[in-house]
Amino acid sequence: MGRLAGKVALITGGARGMGAEHVRRFVAEGARVVFGDVLDDAGRQLAAEIGADCHYLHHDVTSESDWAAAVAEARERFGRLDVLVNNAGILRFQSIAEMSVRDFSTILNVNVTGSWLGIKTAAPALTAAGGGSVVNVSSVEGFVGAAGLSAYSASKFALRGVTKSAARELGKHGIRVNSVHPGGIATPMTEAAGSGVDGGTFFAGLPIPRWGRPAEVTEAVVFLASDAASYCTGTEVVVDGGMLTGAGY
Ligand SMILES: NC(=O)c1ccc[n+]([C@@H]2O[C@H](COP(=O)([O-])OP(=O)(O)OC[C@H]3O[C@@H](n4cnc5c(N)ncnc54)[C@H](O)[C@@H]3O)[C@@H](O)[C@H]2O)c1
Repeated sequence: MGRLAGKVALITGGARGMGAEHVRRFVAEGARVVFGDVLDDAGRQLAAEIGADCHYLHHDVTSESDWAAAVAEARERFGRLDVLVNNAGILRFQSIAEMSVRDFSTILNVNVTGSWLGIKTAAPALTAAGGGSVVNVSSVEGFVGAAGLSAYSASKFALRGVTKSAARELGKHGIRVNSVHPGGIATPMTEAAGSGVDGGTFFAGLPIPRWGRPAEVTEAVVFLASDAASYCTGTEVVVDGGMLTGAGY
């Protein structure tokens, strides 16, 4: 029996990177998965590769109507909704001086409002299923700031606040809400980030001196989604190779 046997999950930003790893692993653990993204070709390709236990649909997390359609798809196709993984996110390295208000708002809109909208839309379905689990993907930048990441860091701090408030609000419906905080994980996002930081030196200074792998974050997401985490809500699971242990990174 898989750790997610019988569960139905909705995963955002599932077409590539960590989201794609979550989709693959959730199905391998016995879940049926609806996943969305704005990268339709990659999403459809992944769904075709995995088979009938998952379904891809176009789902921009900033769109209320896309959220309604995604939750409805999970319920109609697989009969219920037990798990929501708010994984979709965007990152842009830019100084405060250079960043436009519009870019700042876009990052907040996808990373915070998108996840909040997901909780708002999915909560009735999770309640109808007798309870469930929401996993919000924040970051180490939800705990510390970084030059060039004011918007991203603001969004990931904010997601912790959303997580804790939702945990308090939805506990009475049997819904657990937790956050996961990856460190430096090798994905298309980090390949394209253009931070100007020398990755080799940076990672050599960590207690676990290397990049993280998407599957190592998926482990934490699967745990929080599963019944093994039945007494965890409002908590924060850091998967960062020890990055947050000290100021030297
Ligand atoms: N890679 C890292 O080092 C790292 C570290 C900490 C946190 N994170 C977080 O982990 C999550 C996954 O990141 P990743 O590294 O796999 O990045 P990624 O860019 O490879 O994947 C993110 C996915 O989200 C999708 N997406 C973007 N905007 C969207 C929208 N409006 N609606 C729906 N989908 C949208 C993208 O198309 C993409 O498929 C993000 O929330 C990111 O902030 C990543």
